[in-house]
Amino acid sequence: MIEDLWYKNAVFYCVSVETFMDSNGDGVGDFEGLTRRLDYLHGLGVTAIWLMPFQPSPGKDDGYDVSDHYGIDPRYGTLGDFVEFAHGAKQRGMRVIIDLVVNHTSDQHPWFQSARLDPKSPYRDWYVWSKTKPKDADEGMIFPGVQVTTWTKDAKAGAYYFHRFYDHQPDLNTANPHVQAEILKIMGFWLELGVSGFRMDAVPFVIAEKGAGIEKPKQQFQMLRLFRQFIQWRRGDSIVLAEANVAPEETINYVGDDSDRLQMMFNFHVNQNLFLAMATERTEPLVKALMETRGLPDTAQWGLHLRNHDELDLGRLAPEDRDKVFAAFGPEETHQLYHRGIRRRLAPMLDGDERRLKLAYSLLFTLPGVPVIRYGDEIGMGDDLSLPERYCARTPMQWSDEPHGGFTKSDTPVMPVITDGPYGYPHLNAAYQRRNADSLLNWLERMIRMRKEIPEVAWGDLVPVDTGAEAILALRYDWRGNSVLFLHNLSAKPCEVHFRTGLDDKPLVDLLGHDHRKPDDGNTFSVLMEPYGLRWYRVGGLDYLLTRSEI
Ligand code: NOJ
Repeated sequence: MIEDLWYKNAVFYCVSVETFMDSNGDGVGDFEGLTRRLDYLHGLGVTAIWLMPFQPSPGKDDGYDVSDHYGIDPRYGTLGDFVEFAHGAKQRGMRVIIDLVVNHTSDQHPWFQSARLDPKSPYRDWYVWSKTKPKDADEGMIFPGVQVTTWTKDAKAGAYYFHRFYDHQPDLNTANPHVQAEILKIMGFWLELGVSGFRMDAVPFVIAEKGAGIEKPKQQFQMLRLFRQFIQWRRGDSIVLAEANVAPEETINYVGDDSDRLQMMFNFHVNQNLFLAMATERTEPLVKALMETRGLPDTAQWGLHLRNHDELDLGRLAPEDRDKVFAAFGPEETHQLYHRGIRRRLAPMLDGDERRLKLAYSLLFTLPGVPVIRYGDEIGMGDDLSLPERYCARTPMQWSDEPHGGFTKSDTPVMPVITDGPYGYPHLNAAYQRRNADSLLNWLERMIRMRKEIPEVAWGDLVPVDTGAEAILALRYDWRGNSVLFLHNLSAKPCEVHFRTGLDDKPLVDLLGHDHRKPDDGNTFSVLMEPYGLRWYRVGGLDYLLTRSEI
């Protein structure tokens, strides 16, 4: 495979250094601990690691409040430790991408400190100010209920500053050429230290026009071209994976119709409709979302996730549909957040039901794009709802049944490890699952291995196949003369389906079991799908390996 399109068929894994593995016993995860776990990730089949923010930060938004973009939070180690980690990943053939948080900084960042103290500071115009409180100051909060305004008065500056997120996260004035140059410099710095790109935080806000009195802020998409050009000129195979929860028709503005903007975006539209489909046991919303997000340029790719470190954001569903997802997966008030989402981890949302977890993962691996797995979800970790906001789903990785799940030798872990109940580390941990051939972890490892052998999902054309059953999703992919077909039963009831693949009498070869199928005389296939059942079929035969060659 040519190096520069590595992301087209990758398996991403998202890690928080702070809560992954503590090597020095101070209670806080660190780069050395993460480096020791690289073989675990490699064994799982991960090909790219996404590191959440690890730069110096007051830690008021779990590192998304950066106070020095060129450093490492000393609690996690040193720049030297980072480079050792990056080298270790490279040695094992894994890429590293890092969070790039440049929509805002911490209010403790020296740039903001200088800007607020002196109107003549060269950094004053790096932020967004207003002498008076703008009329729309009480609108557009991202964390409603927690955050009450988007403009806060700074006593030292004698002016209001704009913050799309928390008030300790002043927005950078990204239209300022000096700020743009600094963003490039930050990217160049980390590229030089071995990363293959960035998960860019809050992209729609980075590129939005900012300032008092702007009613309909324009999106400055040319900025994305600037970022793309810069990183690729510096390092040809580097990418940006955009966090941009936008309507499907907006997608093309982010990736560019000439593939000249960002290479990857999270598919939030499919994510929300996937949960709606699972909640209602109806494939229709998911198929619609897939159709609406089809047709990315060849060299762009979707990142797909089930859960991430934030709430499961259902904000783009119709209110009645959102209520259906709440009812199915987050019925209690404590499960919900910001009136728009669910803050639980995946396993508790699905009642720890392994059939449904496997169904969800199988969908993640077979929808168009590449999977992004959140650490801990591979063993079905739970959440701690006594923790505030999104922190409930950010507890430390459960490695073993040793104290604190083997995460740390300290008695004061940075976040409490889940100890009690069905998700407690004494019986839910990676070591136990490694030893158990039937565990979720080992199943997932096998699925990842198989998924990597099916480049059609990443590269091919998607063709929904009609099964006549509203709970059975049948998706076919065609690519370079090869085809695969995936069946999923979203329902708790068994269901026999009869369908045509559209490829005449070519038999279906079961890639995960022995349920191979031949058509009847009329080229119709029949498959009995068990509750939440799944099938991965190669259409025709297994000789695809002989003809496969990626771009
Ligand atoms: C999106 C991140 O995913 C979230 O965790 C963070 O709070 C905001 N951006 C602000 O950086």
